Amino acid sequence: MFNIILFGPPGSGKGTQSQNLIAKYGLKHLSTGDLLRSEIAFQTPLGIEAKNFMDKGQLVPDEVVIGMISTALETNPDAQGFLFDGFPRTDAQAEALDKLLQLKKTSIAVMLALDVSEDELIKRLLHRGQSSGRSDDVDEAVIRSRIHEYENKTKPVADYYKKFNKVVHIKGEGSVDEIFNLLCKEIDDRKNVDD
Ligand code: AP5
Ligand code: MG
Repeated sequence: MFNIILFGPPGSGKGTQSQNLIAKYGLKHLSTGDLLRSEIAFQTPLGIEAKNFMDKGQLVPDEVVIGMISTALETNPDAQGFLFDGFPRTDAQAEALDKLLQLKKTSIAVMLALDVSEDELIKRLLHRGQSSGRSDDVDEAVIRSRIHEYENKTKPVADYYKKFNKVVHIKGEGSVDEIFNLLCKEIDDRKNVDD
């Protein structure tokens, strides 16, 4: 199994690059943001609770997202590997993920961290907000709150993986293809060692 965390602030391109990476490497894409939006669309109790946090640009409580990831891992026993997008976002989520992967006798191979300037993030998200229908993209104050949550609670998660020498920073500005090629190079370097 080969498991990757695609890391980075809101709007850094995690979802965009995930689509290309799962197609190339045959990984199962686990995006907690997408899972939460699906819960909201079906108006489940979990979705209704999560929406209150998401609309304000705040993180959803750890136990909610850890529970969702635990279920997703259980329901995909035959996956060749997982691509985690938007998870883990707190140290507690990182510790929980390690434990869940240990139960499956696997671990994180690498955290690929997309670096993008704050001005570019806000520009991208406001632009998407004109058409995406994502309520957290429309209001610049909510976008800034998402970035603030990232700086305070999520950025430190990279330090957790740095202790294990698993973090690689990638320039997340440029064309989608250029960034994809940089990501693939890092994956290929490690995958060959693991295979
Ligand atoms: P989530 O859905 O994870 O959103 P996010 O991380 O805030 O950011 P995005 O998904 O908007 O950005 P992205 O990095 O995927 O970039 P994308 O490829 O879309 O989370 C939403 C909310 O759910 C959170 O705020 C929180 O409330 C909750 N949540 C989720 N996970 C959680 C967790 N683990 N714990 C607690 N709460 C959680 O690209 C963005 C835009 O840029 C697109 O329009 C795209 O076309 C464009 N773009 C992409 N690449 C480029 C490029 N190279 N050049 C120019 N434009 C580009
Ligand atoms: Mg995303």
